[in-house]
Amino acid sequence: MYRLQLLQVQKCQEEFERALSLGHYDKARLIALRCAELLRKIASENLSLSHILLEEAKKWEEKAKNVRKRREGKNEYFDKLKALIKRSTITWNDIGGLREAKKLIAQAIGLSIAKSPIEPPQGILLFGPPGTGKSLLASAVANSLNATFFSVKASDLLSKYFGESSKLISALFSLARQLSPSVIFIDEVDSLTMKRVSLDDAARRMIGTLLAEMDGFKERKDKVIVLTATNAPWDLDEAMLSRLPIRIYVPLPDVNSAVEIFKIHLRGIHYDVPLSRLAKEAVKRLYSGREIANVVKLATMKMLEEMNPELSDPLRVSTLKGRDLTTRPLTLDDFKYAMARIKSPITKSDVKKYERWAKEFAI
Ligand SMILES: Nc1ncnc2c1ncn2[C@@H]1O[C@H](COP(=O)(O)OP(=O)(O)OP(=O)(O)O)[C@@H](O)[C@H]1O
Ligand SMILES: [Mg+2]
Repeated sequence: MYRLQLLQVQKCQEEFERALSLGHYDKARLIALRCAELLRKIASENLSLSHILLEEAKKWEEKAKNVRKRREGKNEYFDKLKALIKRSTITWNDIGGLREAKKLIAQAIGLSIAKSPIEPPQGILLFGPPGTGKSLLASAVANSLNATFFSVKASDLLSKYFGESSKLISALFSLARQLSPSVIFIDEVDSLTMKRVSLDDAARRMIGTLLAEMDGFKERKDKVIVLTATNAPWDLDEAMLSRLPIRIYVPLPDVNSAVEIFKIHLRGIHYDVPLSRLAKEAVKRLYSGREIANVVKLATMKMLEEMNPELSDPLRVSTLKGRDLTTRPLTLDDFKYAMARIKSPITKSDVKKYERWAKEFAI
């Protein structure tokens, strides 16, 4: 009788292993629970061996739990990587100014994708004040190469949500190689430095893997380009910096660039103001492209509110459904109104700090 029962357990174990090898995780988990139940039953009937059998039963319950974890891990992994793939519709023409940055990026990319007699650069760092177009440049690169574009924020990699980030990083590079040409864009890369006291072991492992992967693909000559961005380049440590030999300064716009940026954001909008005048004011106020975009939005909003009183009236706003809004060309007053409300997040001394860093470290 006892032997028969043990045979049943053995059969159960075989079924479990088969289910596992076929990737039928739900089934395997149920089988593991059945094994445990069987062992508990046998234990209740064989008191002399019950403690050994109960230990065995516990082990099976543990196995059932691990199967569930493994299954979740697998799905999570894939979904997470898939979530990092972004579609980009940004073209070089959507980015005003930044001629030098565009040129340097083009050169670095060219060396990476062509059969070049010199080694392609390992990684590219875009640095500069907030809102100057670093993320836009990365999107344009991906779009122009028709490359798979993985975009990830360093803070996401460090967050608990990512769990075993170290494995995820390896999986990311491996997928990028499979789907090459690929661009891996790591934003806020400054937070991935070992110097940070707040990092736990898992985060340190993840950064170690990232650095190793960045070393690895250099030899393989895969068409995987690592682009990174930061607005705190001085926080990067040696390990990261040495793997990002191409460092490109993405500065605040000068007057000519500001004119271009205004033009881009005023596409399809009528205005009655010389753009050079707005551009000069924007430069004086240390506006980045982001502030210029916001000024245009706010000026347009003010004009629309003025021309369409229904917009601000909760009782009448529904009458606008399906109707064209009334417009008029934007005036200097609209822009003055907007500029008075939009402030640059940086100061002259911040700009100096970027320029000093650029002089010392940029290519
Ligand atoms: N050179 C530019 N030409 C046109 N639009 C720009 C430019 N720079 C910034 N913008 C506008 O500002 C927005 C923010 O730009 P982007 O996200 O590229 O800034 P960033 O440099 O990555 O900033 P952060 O350092 O804060 O991440 C863009 O979506 C765009 O609307
Ligand atoms: Mg950005």
